[in-house]
Amino acid sequence: MKANTKMKTRVVKQPAPVAPAKTQDTGEAISMDEVWIEGGRKLRGQVPVSGSKNATLPVLTATLLAPGIYRFTNVPALKDVSTMLELLALFGVKSKRDDGHALYVDSTNAHNAEAPYELVKTMRASIYVLGPLLARFGEARVSLPGGCAWGPRPVDLHIKGMQRLGAEVEIEHGYIVARCKKLTGAYLPFEISSVGATGNLLMAAATAEGETIIDNAACEPEIEALAEFLTSMGIKIDGIGTTRLTITGTPRPHPADAAMIPDRIEAGTFLAAAAITGGDVEVTSVEPRHLDAVVEKLEEAGAEVTVHERSIHVRAPERLNPLRVTTSPFPGFPTDMQAQFMALLSVARGTSTITDTIYADRFTHVAELQRLGADIRVDPSLSGAPVMATDLRASAALILAGLVANSETKVSRIYHLDRGYERIEEKLQGLGAAIRRVRA
Ligand code: EPZ
Repeated sequence: MKANTKMKTRVVKQPAPVAPAKTQDTGEAISMDEVWIEGGRKLRGQVPVSGSKNATLPVLTATLLAPGIYRFTNVPALKDVSTMLELLALFGVKSKRDDGHALYVDSTNAHNAEAPYELVKTMRASIYVLGPLLARFGEARVSLPGGCAWGPRPVDLHIKGMQRLGAEVEIEHGYIVARCKKLTGAYLPFEISSVGATGNLLMAAATAEGETIIDNAACEPEIEALAEFLTSMGIKIDGIGTTRLTITGTPRPHPADAAMIPDRIEAGTFLAAAAITGGDVEVTSVEPRHLDAVVEKLEEAGAEVTVHERSIHVRAPERLNPLRVTTSPFPGFPTDMQAQFMALLSVARGTSTITDTIYADRFTHVAELQRLGADIRVDPSLSGAPVMATDLRASAALILAGLVANSETKVSRIYHLDRGYERIEEKLQGLGAAIRRVRA
């Protein structure tokens, strides 16, 4: 990544709005407004952060768990929140905002229904209704989320977890169809840390009989907030904030109120905006401990960062130092800040590298940054997947690729390999490879 400072932009008032266009992939009505930015100004001053989108969405679905009235504050006024309320309305959940950021939700007359593809395809987080529906009604029909530009985003952990709690789960015509007489607590070891699956199974386990343990659980602040909200609904959860959550189900959770945590990604985006302009900005209404990894990288890049109780102040130099950034689950560097830091580093000194270990292909923004003159090269990275050997040497090639791929590669039809390699996995183990033979 080489430095580039030639950006030109302008902020102007939009003419009368035209009829919203429809997106190709979801057919959803979307606004075609644009933002025009004139570059070259250092950002200065204070900016408050709104409530967290990714904390609000699962908490709203948790209202399906117990009939009654809920009052939420610091709820961000965002499209995704409206979409979630639209989805919950299909289940008979009423909602009313009383002013900008407070929201009443009434799930007294909630009933079971289907989470339709038309809505789910516009927002993957819709899958968060699966756990609460199963827990409350013993049945759920939820559309699979559909494709994503960042490569495969499976929901296998959600489904496997529901099955371990005793639900029968089928995929029928693109829908997850789950049924259970009653859910029973179980041990749920996650192969990989998943925010969505942790949240969904936390809610499913809420009314399950007995204890559920989620091992290698995600401990993102949004999951911590969900677990604390479920606790205030009367569900006993131990290990909040750690990767091992123990949930003791209760047959009758009760409604509760909650204030949404600040949006750490919005806060991180403002910190990056200050840094990219060489500005002096205080981001307020934040929870600083949620941004340790981002602050650490800004300081490493040469910005002066002062952390206060509820705000973070960044003073940035003209040009930042290069960085090596690798995303990972919380408390690591968030993948949701990867694109913003790519913009930041495209105008820093020297060459920086960014590795995304969560979404191997989350680089759709590169081409657009290059259009602005950024010098970015995407190094091909392999991501683990089930693959099939087709002949002797091809199987050796798949093994080699598996040695450098992110996450696990499963090579089948290795009878090809055994024709020409004697105990290759043992020999590679001797060299430190994480490789093993799995008997069929
Ligand atoms: C949440 O998505 C966030 N969305 C994402 O933020 C964020 O990028 C992501 O967590 C990672 O931090 C919301 O909270 C609504 P995951 P989620 O399950 O839950 C794989 C934004 O910008 N995986 O933690 O979908 C998956 O493919 C959004 O606000 C499985 O393999 O993410 C990915 O590689 C974008 N099987 C990794 O785990 C599963 O069953 C992490 O995904 C589930 C996930």
